[in-house]
Amino acid sequence: MELDALLTQSRARLGPFSTVHFFAEVASTNDVAAALPEGAVVLADHQTAGRGRRGHSWFSPPGSGLYASVVLAPGRARHDPTRATILLTLAAGVALAEGLEAASGLLADLKWPNDLYVSRRKLAGILAETSGDLVILGFGINTSAVSYPAELRDHITSIESELGRSVDRYRVMVETLATLATRYHDLISGRFDAILDAWRRRAPGAVGTRVARTINGVVETGVTAGIDDNGALLVRVGDRIERIVSGELEWL
Ligand code: BTN
Repeated sequence: MELDALLTQSRARLGPFSTVHFFAEVASTNDVAAALPEGAVVLADHQTAGRGRRGHSWFSPPGSGLYASVVLAPGRARHDPTRATILLTLAAGVALAEGLEAASGLLADLKWPNDLYVSRRKLAGILAETSGDLVILGFGINTSAVSYPAELRDHITSIESELGRSVDRYRVMVETLATLATRYHDLISGRFDAILDAWRRRAPGAVGTRVARTINGVVETGVTAGIDDNGALLVRVGDRIERIVSGELEWL
């Protein structure tokens, strides 16, 4: 179905996200969204300079993914705006997984902090960037298989490759906006436990999985032991528990 028709049909569920600015091509939707107010949504068919976390690029060819950014203001949360801001990307990961399931039936696992994986291949990622009081929350979801660059080929997947059938990517987009509206409302209203519980249920690898991370060139391995109430990942390394708030982890 056309995006506009889906948006109209779903308006009541979209909360602040009912205005979607669509572009055939942009450098990065996060850059376009940075000039817009809370609730604005930017969606592009193609990004020429899509960004990932930690200086990576995000492969964004035309017609095969959802490249979107929404403008959020977690600092206006009624209770504990600092914690709401810290938990924002976990809430967004939950919303993406829920939107994906609602639109397509596909279940993805969350990998801390907010990547979506299916069978250990990355399906979607989230990049949150601050712009004054606002947070630009960008997400990329691979919807159909394309010819991926060699270095990505064995590590990423798409909704259609997993399901073995075509999906309406705009339906995935609209369902994701609806679940994002719900989880954003939870966050602004201080329902942090609902977000943390949902995240834990969808992240089986956050407990009992061997992981490695590289700190200053040294590889450290440990076993995941869940997340704490501020969304930090706990990792047992030898006989101590480390609390990780940033960085990249490799599943072993
Ligand atoms: C990651 O897992 O590294 C985060 C990827 C985020 C990609 C999205 S695509 C839409 C938005 N615009 C960007 O330039 N990046 C994000």
